[in-house]
Amino acid sequence: MAKLKKKYVCQACGSIAFRWQGQCADCSEWNTLVEEAPPTVFSAKHDLQAGGRTVELVSLAGDIALPARQPTGIAEFDRAIGGGLVAGSATLIGGDPGIGKSTLLLQVAAKMALAGQQVAYISGEEAAGQVRMRGVRLGLGDAPVRLASATSVRDILTTFADGPPPALVVIDSIQTMHSDLIEGAPGTVSQVRASAHELIRFAKERGTALVLVGHVTKDGTIAGPRVLEHMVDTVLAFEGERSHQYRILRAIKNRFGGTDEIGVFAMETQGLAEVANPSVLFLTDRSESVAGTTVFPALEGTRPVLVEIQALTVRLASGATPRRAVVGWDAGRLAMILAVLESRCGLSFSTTEVYLNIAGGYRLSDPAADLAVAGALVSALAERPVPVDAVMFGEVALSAELRPVAHSGQRLREAAKLGFTRAMVPRSVSSAGEGIALSGFRTLGEFVDHLLGR
Ligand code: TYD
Ligand code: MG
Repeated sequence: MAKLKKKYVCQACGSIAFRWQGQCADCSEWNTLVEEAPPTVFSAKHDLQAGGRTVELVSLAGDIALPARQPTGIAEFDRAIGGGLVAGSATLIGGDPGIGKSTLLLQVAAKMALAGQQVAYISGEEAAGQVRMRGVRLGLGDAPVRLASATSVRDILTTFADGPPPALVVIDSIQTMHSDLIEGAPGTVSQVRASAHELIRFAKERGTALVLVGHVTKDGTIAGPRVLEHMVDTVLAFEGERSHQYRILRAIKNRFGGTDEIGVFAMETQGLAEVANPSVLFLTDRSESVAGTTVFPALEGTRPVLVEIQALTVRLASGATPRRAVVGWDAGRLAMILAVLESRCGLSFSTTEVYLNIAGGYRLSDPAADLAVAGALVSALAERPVPVDAVMFGEVALSAELRPVAHSGQRLREAAKLGFTRAMVPRSVSSAGEGIALSGFRTLGEFVDHLLGR
């Protein structure tokens, strides 16, 4: 148990002594020390005598000041962060090397600067000349972005100490920053934490929107202390396959908005272009029907994206164990769909290799894709194309029953918008006049029978 110590408080200046004295050591007044009431165990443990203040407690209901949002002018970026950058907020953006973080942020910075905002871009990785060259390549050479190549947090904060604070400061990257308040090389956990702490405090005090670029580790999490993600208001992930064109900006954490919206970009020679209609990006030319491909209306946040699912089956003559390979979907879930097709629908994949691919390098996690995957598998196995003008979605249960999924209406509307005329769905899905004909199935068996014309 904490020892209960006697305390003597000077009635003139408030200083505390742990021994009675005739004269206060601080203000030199005589006979002013008075013994304080003995502390309780609780207050001793929590050191409540050491000069705490009471905090003001207010009611949850009351006036609120909505945070001031500054749209950056890049609509896909604004969409992902919930409508624009919030003044005094800190945002961390992570992504694989070469995915386009620096490009995106330079474009955001330039756009805001061209709109008349004070914007600074601090690169710890590239020389100012390199950043300038990229700017020229992006056609942003004359945007009034203030550039610097620096890694010392003290120097950076000194630079912004006087004058009006910038609306946006980009730090590329936090792993290259160095704070002289603590020991250690840049990139170490303690340095990253200390540098981020100082920069974030500056942003909060001065009302600057701060964007930190963060490296990611091999498994995709943001390098450095996890606590970095706790310190900032918003965490964004910039994803995509480097060999493919498209990039997705996704909020993982957002104190000022939702995390279910995405921004879609395409990496082009002129930098990142906004993709307002992502479905076009993921659908290959579909004038001819090919066995083994189906179209699935996926949902990203509130936004439908039509993606193509491709399956290939190869019958093995030998008794070797057939391979199952998946790109862009969960291998466990594929095994489950195969098992349901085998045991409930009378199809055999046991001597067949199965390859499944989501076109365009897209990653699906939506369980509504089950039916479209099953459709692609059946179509590939039977070498029967599914109709080109059909989309399909629905969750498959182990009992082979088809379950309805969220936001059917939105998925159907998007499909209709892109010229699809029918949808194969669980029977319980009803049309609300989306301009697309529905074929409803109660079980996966019924669906397979329909595809095979049985
Ligand atoms: P970059 O923004 O440097 O990536 P990060 O900061 O995430 O490491 O992007 C680099 C890649 O982007 C590089 O491989 C080339 C490509 N790129 C283009 O295709 N077009 C462009 O206009 C630019 C600037 C880059
Ligand atoms: Mg970079």
